[in-house]
Amino acid sequence: MQKQQLLYKGKAKSVYETDDSDFLILHFRDDTSAFNGERVAQLARKGQVNNRFNAFIMQKLADAGIETHFEKQLSDDEVLVKRLQMIPVECVVRNYAAGSLVRRLGLQEGQTLNPPTFELFYKDDALGDPMVNESLAVSLGWATQEQLNEMKTLTHRVNDVLSELFAQGDLMLVDFKLEFGVFHHRIVLGDEFSPDGCRIWDKATKKKLDKDRFRQSLGDVIEAYEEVANRIGVPL
Ligand code: C5P
Repeated sequence: MQKQQLLYKGKAKSVYETDDSDFLILHFRDDTSAFNGERVAQLARKGQVNNRFNAFIMQKLADAGIETHFEKQLSDDEVLVKRLQMIPVECVVRNYAAGSLVRRLGLQEGQTLNPPTFELFYKDDALGDPMVNESLAVSLGWATQEQLNEMKTLTHRVNDVLSELFAQGDLMLVDFKLEFGVFHHRIVLGDEFSPDGCRIWDKATKKKLDKDRFRQSLGDVIEAYEEVANRIGVPL
């Protein structure tokens, strides 16, 4: 598969076309950003750590019967993926209260959410990814109700698989964000799963081991990602 022109440069990944219209190459860069691009930095090893982390998780999900866009890790910081027609919503599941939910409702950080909650956000940088609901997503033609039902079911299944995986490393999967797309009429998991798009805490101490270390200037960001990777068996 030949890498061709740059299709899109996101905040942390670049997307390249290939000579096969069904596949793309994602390049995980060392760039990181928070607060909708207001804070940006370069973190050494981040591209490589997230690429390996993502490949490991996508493989675990495929093993559990969840179809993902992941095809093959191509290099330290590149992966071959299926080219999806992305649905412009972010699917968030929360097992414990944190982040925007705490700010919105004044909850105590760490409060258990039982059963886990499911939220939808519209993927739009200019608007700051506002919260939406399924009704709006259908009315605006972003997805059909059947597609949204499937995305919700799949997101909860991902939560079941990954909560168990992280628990084996004495880690809590607090919340995470997924993005889906359509590939030959099927709903397929896209984007990435890495500590950039989820919250992971040490079970005993509740130490934050995810992108909140960057958002909250706690330091040792990539060291924390590597610790999580080591605890769940990601080969770095
Ligand atoms: O900010 P909020 O609490 O709504 O985030 C919920 C989860 O979704 C967190 O794990 C966060 O890292 C992730 N997220 C993301 N990309 C966004 C918004 C949230 O990965 N644009």
